[in-house]
Amino acid sequence: MNFYTHETYGERVAGVYDDWYAEHNPQMIDTLAGFGGDGRALELGIGTGRIALPLTAKGVEVHGIDAAESMISQLRAKPGGEKITITTGNFAEVPVEGTFALVYIVFNTFFALSSQEEQVQCFRNVAAHLDAGGCFVLEAFVPDLNRFTGGQVNWATKVTADEVQLDVGQHDAATQRVVSQKVVITDGNVRLYPVQIRYCWPSELDLMAQIAALRLRERWSNWKREPFTSESGQHISIYERS
Ligand SMILES: C[S@@+](CC[C@H](N)C(=O)[O-])C[C@H]1O[C@@H](n2cnc3c(N)ncnc32)[C@H](O)[C@@H]1O
Repeated sequence: MNFYTHETYGERVAGVYDDWYAEHNPQMIDTLAGFGGDGRALELGIGTGRIALPLTAKGVEVHGIDAAESMISQLRAKPGGEKITITTGNFAEVPVEGTFALVYIVFNTFFALSSQEEQVQCFRNVAAHLDAGGCFVLEAFVPDLNRFTGGQVNWATKVTADEVQLDVGQHDAATQRVVSQKVVITDGNVRLYPVQIRYCWPSELDLMAQIAALRLRERWSNWKREPFTSESGQHISIYERS
C-alpha cells in the first residue's frame, strides 16, 4: 500500500521542519529579490516560509502555494506571515490568478512531483503565469546514481548518544523515482517521515522548459553564481519565456 499524496510530506514533517531546516542562504534571498523587483513573486511549495518570509522582508510581494495545511498554518502564525497570500493546492496546477515577475521553487521541491507528466504540467502552468519579462527559478540537486547502489538508499544522517536518524529507501532507475523514509529513533520511540521523489537531470528539465515554451537563460552551481560544470552537485536554473 502506498497512500502517499501531495500533502503527505508536509503533513508529516510540519512539526519538526523548522528544527531541521532553520537556515536560509542570504545570497539566495538577495538574488530572488532582484528577480522579483517591484513585481509579484510566487513560491511553489512555500512550506513554513523559510524563504518567503525573508524575501517579504526585502519588500517583495510574495505569494505561495502548498498542499499541506499544517505547513501553511505555521507560516501564517509567524510575524510577516499575514503579508503573504497562500493558496492550498498542488503546485503542478499553479492554482492562482494572474502573472508574476518571479516564480521560484527551491530545495529540490520540484522533484516532489511524482511523474514526468506532472512535472511537464508544472512547467506549462508556470509559463502561463509569468509576466512578459518574468523568470522561473528552480534549485535542485544533480542526480548521482552512485548514491543508489543496488537500488537501495541507506544513510545514517545523525548518530548521537540520544538519537539516530536514518534515510532508508528504494530506487527505481526506470522511473527515476525514490521512495524513502527518514527514520528518527530515540529511546523508546520511532518516527517515520516519508519522502517520495522523481528526480531528473538538468537536461530533462530544459526539455520540459522547451515543451512549455520556456528557455534557459542562466544556470549556476550555487547562489554565488559560480559556473555550472559537470562536477556540480546542484544547480540553480533560470528560465524565461522563449
Ligand atoms: C522541502 S519543503 C520546502 C519548503 C520551502 N520551500 C523551503 O525551502 O523551506 C517542500 C514543500 O512542498 C510542499 N509540497 C510538496 N509537494 C507539493 C505539491 N505537489 N503541491 C503543493 N505543495 C507541495 C510540501 O508540503 C512542503 O511544504
